[in-house]
Amino acid sequence: MKKVDVVLGLQWGDEGKGKVVDVLTPAYRVIARFQGGPNAGHSLHFEGKKYVLHTIPSGIFRDGSVNVIGNGVVIDPVILSEEIAGLEADGIDVQGKLLISKKAHLILPTHRAIDAASEAAKGKTKIGSTLKGIGPTYMDKTGRNGLRIGDIVSPEFGERYGRLKEKHLGLLRQYDYPVDLTDYEKKWFEGIENLKRFRLIDSEHAVNRLLDEDNTMLAEGAQGSMLDIDFGTYPFVTSSNTLCAGVCTGLGVAPSRIGNVYGIFKAYCTRVGSGPFPTELFDEDGERMRQIGMEFGATTGRPRRCGWLDMVALKYSVMMNGVTSLIMMKADVLNDFDRLKVAVAYRVNGERTTEFPFETAGEIVPEYREFEGWKCDINSMRSYDEFPRQLKEYVEFIERETGVPVKIISVGPDREETIVR
Ligand code: GDP
Ligand code: IMO
Ligand code: MG
Repeated sequence: MKKVDVVLGLQWGDEGKGKVVDVLTPAYRVIARFQGGPNAGHSLHFEGKKYVLHTIPSGIFRDGSVNVIGNGVVIDPVILSEEIAGLEADGIDVQGKLLISKKAHLILPTHRAIDAASEAAKGKTKIGSTLKGIGPTYMDKTGRNGLRIGDIVSPEFGERYGRLKEKHLGLLRQYDYPVDLTDYEKKWFEGIENLKRFRLIDSEHAVNRLLDEDNTMLAEGAQGSMLDIDFGTYPFVTSSNTLCAGVCTGLGVAPSRIGNVYGIFKAYCTRVGSGPFPTELFDEDGERMRQIGMEFGATTGRPRRCGWLDMVALKYSVMMNGVTSLIMMKADVLNDFDRLKVAVAYRVNGERTTEFPFETAGEIVPEYREFEGWKCDINSMRSYDEFPRQLKEYVEFIERETGVPVKIISVGPDREETIVR
């Protein structure tokens, strides 16, 4: 009987989960997404090509893999169908490798409109949502109004869709947010028809059966721990549990069935959208991280905010996820920096703390520890032994602080640019 291993982002998303899942997949038969939806953008680079996945698990490129979209995921049939069409055009057998949970909720065209209306109404205090309808869809899920993938074959589907849409239109009138959904709605129903050719399954049974039958399984997180609905920088978060606990509710596996937890972080920090970011840089260093790291959103193209590594936030994430191995990404982006900084504590209203605080609206002043930069090109290095002393010191400091070994270090976007210790 196997357990499910988990890959999670420990920061504010975009840590490099797509790349890591792609690197790890040869060791796994089943790859499963358990939360989030098309707000995610997971990039994979191999054989000179780049792919960005939004809803489909990053195992889809590997022959013989089983890719599950779990019940905790929210699905936009338009975006999923476009994603499938792109992969099929490249000769990938998506139909043979993809399983979709009947319990996954549907993002309606009106959910997207409500997301946009809500953000517009918030003005300056907007979340910076990806505008994919994520928040309104999870609201309808917990509000017990949602439509699910398993409903699309019901003879009453059209009627239930109409009722929910009417409810949403009422809300949009309150927002005074006029929308024309005709085009999107047409594509949405085409998307629904398209999804009927896929295996729509009772994924909790399938997932547990696959584990009982000794299949290896990797759960692929979306977003990051600091965007978790409960523990992230609320209200500037997404609407799902991005933590390891989300694997249990988003796939239907018991906590005792969780195996290794791989926590991914960048050697620095980024965030896209609004909200607290204690180590954010507004200077030349931040701009260099953005340019060298090509820090522009994989889903929205927005420039990502950049800053130093934050150990206060990282240790908080490690604690809540029960991380067993750390994976450090994008160390190569820092190749040219003379000196690096890492936040080891905050001053909140003048008081020093090493715990991530409740109140994040005011000023948080990070206390930094400085490190010597390695000042050399690490992209072509393929073993830890080759690493410069300064980089080893950086890695070993993180291991001491978190108490967790850094098992993989990524030195470039390509599959090959990866060091496993
Ligand atoms: P995800 O959402 O966690 O899958 O991450 P994204 O794909 O949104 O963003 C990560 C970006 O960094 C992508 O463009 C990756 O190709 C790129 N990337 C991943 N690992 C590395 C690395 O080690 N070095 C560099 N320079 N880029 C990387
Ligand atoms: P991956 O999986 C980075 C951010 C948005 C916004 C907030 C809420 O690629 O790491 P939402 O659309 O969920 O209502 O937006 O969360 N956000 C992400 N930031 N990476 C992501 O996914 C994100 N998904 C959502 O920018 O601040
Ligand atoms: Mg991303």
